[in-house]
Amino acid sequence: MKQNILIVGSGGREHALGWKLSESQSVSMIYYCPGNGGTINNLSFSITDFYDIKSFAKKNNCIVVVGPEEPLTKGIVNELSDSITVFGPTREAAQLESSKSFAKQFMKENNIPTADYNSFSDPEKAKDYVYNTHKSLVIKADGLAAGKGVVVCDNKEDALNAIDSIMIRKSFGNSGNVIVIEERLFGEEVSFIGLSDGNTIIPMVTAQDYKRIYDSDKGPNTGGMGSFSPSRIVSTDLFNDILNKIMKKTITAMKKNSNPFRGFLYAGLMIEKDTQKIHVLEYNVRMGDPECQSIMMRMNSDLFDYIKGSISGTLDTLPPIRWSENPAICIVMAEKGYPLNYKTGNVIHGLNSSFGHNIKIFHAGTIRDNDNKKILTSGGRVLGVTAIGRDFYKARSNAYDAVKKIYWGKANQYYRKDIGLKAI
Ligand code: AMP
Ligand code: GLY
Repeated sequence: MKQNILIVGSGGREHALGWKLSESQSVSMIYYCPGNGGTINNLSFSITDFYDIKSFAKKNNCIVVVGPEEPLTKGIVNELSDSITVFGPTREAAQLESSKSFAKQFMKENNIPTADYNSFSDPEKAKDYVYNTHKSLVIKADGLAAGKGVVVCDNKEDALNAIDSIMIRKSFGNSGNVIVIEERLFGEEVSFIGLSDGNTIIPMVTAQDYKRIYDSDKGPNTGGMGSFSPSRIVSTDLFNDILNKIMKKTITAMKKNSNPFRGFLYAGLMIEKDTQKIHVLEYNVRMGDPECQSIMMRMNSDLFDYIKGSISGTLDTLPPIRWSENPAICIVMAEKGYPLNYKTGNVIHGLNSSFGHNIKIFHAGTIRDNDNKKILTSGGRVLGVTAIGRDFYKARSNAYDAVKKIYWGKANQYYRKDIGLKAI
């Protein structure tokens, strides 16, 4: 019997997961809650309306697949799993992302390489620590802050300002009651994502993302302005090291702590250039966005089989995932002004251009207008234009050629021009 699915979330990641699941012979209807202008069968409730999600899933025989961290860290899996089949980690396992101090302590206890750190609940003690150290520092709000609660400091003044902003002015609310101060690491970042059932973890292909708003990694952090897969700096040996010494170790330790991790586990890694030393910067308890878009573009296996395997604890019986050898690139088209102030409600033109089979336009901040004829912008990150090609050069030109066919006004749209350049 074919399976109905309800995807929770509205971003490019969820559109990409839904697209891949729609290719499965085992999947029937796919609903999105709330979805976006590029998805169909959108439900009107929000990602934290657990009661409505549960009733709908029950009535329509859906497996629930959760995309973003917010419902996971608020316990959607705990709340639904008495009567619904849900894919993702529990609230307790999601602490790997929802509490930086939990994650740091977990890594320390389990010899998982990460930057040295201290956590503080008293801003004065935190400042004393800053005055008395010679290290370069990074200041992090303990809780969730939509990727913005991390300040990479160039000097003590930056660090002191960050403590004031997070702990005293409460820029991220209660997420800043506790901070983690850690040693600053240098190198290149890689996103390593695996799918686990609590015992086994199956790796995805590697990816890299672009966090800053402007070319050459300048300007403020964003949710991610583009991605590519695979990373060019992860050799086979390094891949196996990451899989064994970080990913498998994490899954084994979570299980040992009676807190098994099921779902996508994402390790944000810093790879030191000369020594190839690996450190974990952060865990996420979900797919990366926009890494997911590039990774899904390369997946040749049936994603549904692996999601089912994660839920039923049978990943060890499945073969490795088959991947295209061809690289993929995702370019995020955003509203000009994102991540600060920007307008929405612009009509997007060119979405019906002929793009070819090696291009997918994943929607994020888009919405259909009332008569269902136009697609309008509705958020900061609007589209993830994703392309695959025989090499990085071709994937990149495919992606940028597609981007040029889409527009909602020069004064309103923005994208980075350097996505994928470092892979060429
Ligand atoms: P996090 O949410 O902890 O991953 O931090 C967000 C971003 O801040 C990372 O992707 C890095 O670019 C940067 N970052 C975090 N921790 C460090 C660190 N210890 N050293 C250098 N950069 C870091
Ligand atoms: N692209 C980074 C993230 O999803 O957290």
